[in-house]
Amino acid sequence: MPVKTIEWRGGAVRMIDQRLLPAREVIRTYRDYRGVAQAIRSMVIRGAPAIGVAAAMGVALGMKGVSGRSAISRFESVARTLRATRPTAVNLAWALERMRTTLEASLSMEKSRLFDRMVAEAIAIYEEDLAVNRALGSHGAALLDSPATVLTHCNAGALATAGYGTALGVIRAARDAGKKISVYADETRPFLQGSRLTAWELHKDRIPVTVIADNMAATVLARGAVSCVIVGTDRTAANGDVANKIGTYPLAAMARRHGVPFYVAAPLSSIDLDCRSGADIPIEERAQNEITEFAGKRVVPRGVPAFNPAFDVTPAELVSAIITERGIARPPYRKSLAAMKKGR
Ligand code: MRU
Repeated sequence: MPVKTIEWRGGAVRMIDQRLLPAREVIRTYRDYRGVAQAIRSMVIRGAPAIGVAAAMGVALGMKGVSGRSAISRFESVARTLRATRPTAVNLAWALERMRTTLEASLSMEKSRLFDRMVAEAIAIYEEDLAVNRALGSHGAALLDSPATVLTHCNAGALATAGYGTALGVIRAARDAGKKISVYADETRPFLQGSRLTAWELHKDRIPVTVIADNMAATVLARGAVSCVIVGTDRTAANGDVANKIGTYPLAAMARRHGVPFYVAAPLSSIDLDCRSGADIPIEERAQNEITEFAGKRVVPRGVPAFNPAFDVTPAELVSAIITERGIARPPYRKSLAAMKKGR
């Protein structure tokens, strides 16, 4: 991937502005944690693992010039700001907890060493995410025949992670293993992650991709044009219920209706055993204007409200398998996901 989703460079955090893709490739630079929080909130960067990495780098920025007790109180306020940005992806809270653990082990360090240690941890989170996606991709690639046509929703690609992607990582790994893979990308209303981002990165990578509007997925499934569905997840509960971009649940129901396997690519950092089921997962609601306007133009009569939940929950019974960096989890998920998390 020639353009990096996010990187730590020169004491700052750099991100490609995903709101502007595919029309323009603009890199934003953030030197303070409030800017990073705003970037997450406004979707300059999005996708569960990517916002985890961004939050970790944001914490590092916030820890400049502090040590001892003042480092703890600074961390609390930085973490509060970052945590409040987006509630559904557990990777964000996961990354903040990891940064807290690092801080607690570094409290005796003087200011500049403590800052360097926090930066190193944020970069480690970034690098581990890349390695996780490669491992997850190679496990998932074994599920795909050749040729295969994959239907995906939203963007669970390089742009949603430190690089390579989860759902798109599976596709990349299958292609790199010599399989002939083509992709249908759901457009993904209202933010268009599928048509703008998934199509952009797959096309750059020379993986054949065809965009469909979300309401066409049932038709391509009914025509027998899809070998399997693969999506990412923002948070998967202990029982295997999967929170992912709004529109994932109807896709899973349609896949079941047509006998097509429905796979979820889930790094272990997205699996939250503290949520017993999907009912425990907080679902973000975003601003109405994402629905009432299109490309800055009003498309709903004034005075008519819109409902804009950003994610839905696919019941575990519709999920054929969950692909992790440690292997493939199958039902019953309460058992298989707990074992994956423990490394057994
Ligand atoms: O609102 P977004 O664009 O952050 O939603 C992203 C998704 O729903 C992805 O599918 C999910 O985060 C997995 S990314 C590997």
